[in-house]
Amino acid sequence: MLLKHEFRFHETQLEWMDCLPIVTTLVTGRHVIIDYMTDQQLTETYCMIQEAAQHGDGYGIDEFDSEKDFRHEIEGSDCFAIVSKDSGELLAGLILAVSKFYRGMNGVCDPFIIVKRTERKQKLGEFCMRKAIEFAKKLGYMGMYVDTFSNNVAVQRIIEKIGGFQRVGFLPLGGRLQTGQLVGSVIYYRDLSPKKPEDT
Ligand SMILES: CC(C)(COP(=O)(O)OP(=O)(O)OC[C@H]1O[C@@H](n2cnc3c(N)ncnc32)[C@H](O)[C@@H]1OP(=O)(O)O)[C@@H](O)C(=O)NCCC(=O)NCCS
Repeated sequence: MLLKHEFRFHETQLEWMDCLPIVTTLVTGRHVIIDYMTDQQLTETYCMIQEAAQHGDGYGIDEFDSEKDFRHEIEGSDCFAIVSKDSGELLAGLILAVSKFYRGMNGVCDPFIIVKRTERKQKLGEFCMRKAIEFAKKLGYMGMYVDTFSNNVAVQRIIEKIGGFQRVGFLPLGGRLQTGQLVGSVIYYRDLSPKKPEDT
């Protein structure tokens, strides 16, 4: 995975990555910093994902066996931290992984988004998805597949609000919730290729 101070090798990507950290303001007026994740923040992100899984929120209960397994799963991903400018606290994690649904190198992105439990419903999830699209384009991905549990109302609402996604599939077996119940996955697709002059 790519953490703070690790670099990809394409010139345009290097130029863009030099822009991080970015300080920005959420629609709620809160100031946040976006930067590459530190190793400690990746551990915090893993803990937030496990906590979400324990509550049946967006991640399967047996999705990752251990932090080692999680780190292995996201190898090669770009990992970003959204941090409160005031407190320095990690508010959300955004991981741009390479989608397993594309049989090639770095073609399609699969975003992992996690907002700290106490920080939800303050538009951070929407902010992260918008950043996922923006950053994935800058990193040269041609498209994005969002794979979300069918009971994940928040992600589906975010996708609907942002627009530009197509619902392209439904997998009856998406994962297992903490109750033991199986849940399906909905797959959304978004084209990230640069617009050709004739499209504009
Ligand atoms: C999904 C998640 C990222 C959303 O983050 P968030 O910061 O709470 O989202 P936002 O505040 O941007 O809310 C987005 C929309 O979803 C709605 N929403 C948020 N949580 C909701 C919930 N539990 N039930 C119903 N609607 C919900 C909000 O009201 C908002 O809609 P609106 O703009 O029409 O009011 C967050 O709940 C989370 O981290 N969940 C666990 C991990 C997860 O599911 N990740 C995605 C895996 S694909």
